[in-house]
Amino acid sequence: MTLALPITSDPYWTEVGDIQDIPLRGARRVATPNGDVAVFRTGDDLIFALRDECPHRKGPLSQGMVSGHAVACPLHSWMIDLRTGQPLGADAGKGCTPRAPVLIKAGRVFVALSD
Ligand code: FES
Repeated sequence: MTLALPITSDPYWTEVGDIQDIPLRGARRVATPNGDVAVFRTGDDLIFALRDECPHRKGPLSQGMVSGHAVACPLHSWMIDLRTGQPLGADAGKGCTPRAPVLIKAGRVFVALSD
């Protein structure tokens, strides 16, 4: 599901919704003027945000399966570390997906979206 961004006066943090709106071990896709961002929620309730593009062939990471602190790309199953944006295992060192800083405040999720 893609979230529409609310208009905000904060130049750095953009509110993307309630933490409960992001499924456990899942993601929400946020459309931005600079491309889609995937906001992930892990099974231990941590939130990470990455550009919604796999470093391999730009697969939509928001549609992948979250396992631990990684997501499996839905196209060719590369495992991407949500903490670093880098591929794991045999694909380590083959690119990197840019991360976005995340802030949780009173159950609301904010992402720093930059160009
Ligand atoms: S596009 Fe993600 S593994 Fe190929």
